[in-house]
Amino acid sequence: MSNAVPPSAETDRDARFRELFANKPVILAPMEDVTDAVFRRLCRKHGAGLCVTEFVNVEGLLRGCQRAARKLRLEDDDTPTAIQIYGADADRLAEAAAVAAAANPTFLDINCGCWVPKIAGRGAGAAWLRDPDAMVKMASMVVKSTSLPVTVKTRIGWGPESDMPIVELAKRLEGVGVRALTVHCRTAKMGHSGEADWSWAGKARAGVSIPVIVNGDVKSADDAARALAETGCAGVMIGRRAIEHPWVFDECRALLDRGVHLAPPTALERLALCREHLLANVDQRGEPHGVHCTRRHLSGYLKGLPGAAAVRNALNHDETLAGCLAILDQAEERVRRGAEERAALAVPA
Ligand SMILES: Cc1cc2nc3c(=O)[nH]c(=O)nc-3n(C[C@H](O)[C@H](O)[C@H](O)COP(=O)(O)O)c2cc1C
Repeated sequence: MSNAVPPSAETDRDARFRELFANKPVILAPMEDVTDAVFRRLCRKHGAGLCVTEFVNVEGLLRGCQRAARKLRLEDDDTPTAIQIYGADADRLAEAAAVAAAANPTFLDINCGCWVPKIAGRGAGAAWLRDPDAMVKMASMVVKSTSLPVTVKTRIGWGPESDMPIVELAKRLEGVGVRALTVHCRTAKMGHSGEADWSWAGKARAGVSIPVIVNGDVKSADDAARALAETGCAGVMIGRRAIEHPWVFDECRALLDRGVHLAPPTALERLALCREHLLANVDQRGEPHGVHCTRRHLSGYLKGLPGAAAVRNALNHDETLAGCLAILDQAEERVRRGAEERAALAVPA
């Protein structure tokens, strides 16, 4: 299916797309059951320049199943956000692209990097890397099916190649109209083990004119600055570190834009983020689901807080919003009292 778009509209969209990469964005990675609307808003508030949704299964999307519909829904303020789709069949991916475009994302991303057996074992995600010809053909079909910019997120190869296919693949994907490429710098076989080798993103970048985004093991502002400097990439994507420390985006921006290392968040800021995330998740999903899905973030958010383990433990055993807020209030009270006591003990200069 081809969506005819007047040339002027296309030009505007092109300019907007280019603009996304004008300032080396620090991008929130697509992560299933993590990068939902609530977490995207929170990370954007903390400096994420661009977000990508959790991956959406094209079969669910085309059947209109509830889970896919929830993942596709983008609020007006949820921008710039790309929708990521995955599937094993090129025709179905192309069909789904046209449907996903109706949600009005900033662009559409194709997942060619997921290694988990239930996805790659069925020919989707990183399985495309086993047949680069098929992958390029599929990408070409998706590009032709929509007027939205189409991007690809993939890995450096299936593994264990001695020379990774990503460099040639990047050129071929650019050749069929893919507008940007994210490289998770591991092979599919590595899963999340071993170290990401950013040099492959640099090599892929050197052969193309489209933006290449480096991903994998970027855990701090220093990492982001180093990954960008070493690869010359147009942006950097952060996944797991953001789950425990969404402040990482502000920290990256401060270093990249102003050469400044931000101080770590204070205890009160950490507690405030727990509260904010809980409230937003419960507002979105109700109790107890909204409480449950905040839990995976808490050990990271509370790191360094006096008595963090006890607070986390109490939160993990309370399914109600009111109970969790009371635990956070008590923790805040203890932090304030501790600060007052320290101030009272301080000897005047
Ligand atoms: C819980 C979890 C879910 C993920 N889900 C997706 C996904 O839906 N789509 C995708 O392209 N990658 C997914 N990934 C991979 C990340 O986007 C990213 O490529 C990977 O974690 C490496 O980056 P990091 O070292 O910054 O975490 C997921 C990773 C994690 C940890």
